[in-house]
Amino acid sequence: MSASVLFVCLGNICRSPTAHGVLLRKLGLLGLGDRVRVDSAGTGGWHAGEPPDLRAQRHAAARGYELSALRARQVVPADFSRFTHILAMDRANLDLLEALKPAGFSGELGLFLRYGSHGLLEVPDPYYGGAQGFEKVLDLVEDAADGLIAQLGLGA
Ligand code: 4NP
Repeated sequence: MSASVLFVCLGNICRSPTAHGVLLRKLGLLGLGDRVRVDSAGTGGWHAGEPPDLRAQRHAAARGYELSALRARQVVPADFSRFTHILAMDRANLDLLEALKPAGFSGELGLFLRYGSHGLLEVPDPYYGGAQGFEKVLDLVEDAADGLIAQLGLGA
């Protein structure tokens, strides 16, 4: 295992489980599934134990990503000792993570979209919007996942 990635959004039912499912599948297709541990969590705990939002599941499934087995959980302090990369979907969640970060954390804490090429740094929250928002999440997440895989330097 050369890296471990935790994706974080607010509820852990839309954006971060989408990133979780997309990265898992991309790694699997590349034969790199055993090189990177992937998880996701929310800074909020209201949806803990729930599967991803049905809209997120359906839009992801249409592109071949299976999210139904994922269950929401809240970020815990121990995550900072379990993951080498903690990647937030937006600045508000990054700020909350910065406040939780122990002094000794030597991994990377930052915005997931810094690995992307769309010129955006935040994944817009699709929860209160329509179908287009969920497609946008997938577009941004697929692109940044490719960038992340390249940056992790996992080799061929
Ligand atoms: P997520 O979306 O952070 O991408 O999972 C949201 C899910 C739930 C809520 C907000 C955003 N909520 O307010 O319950």
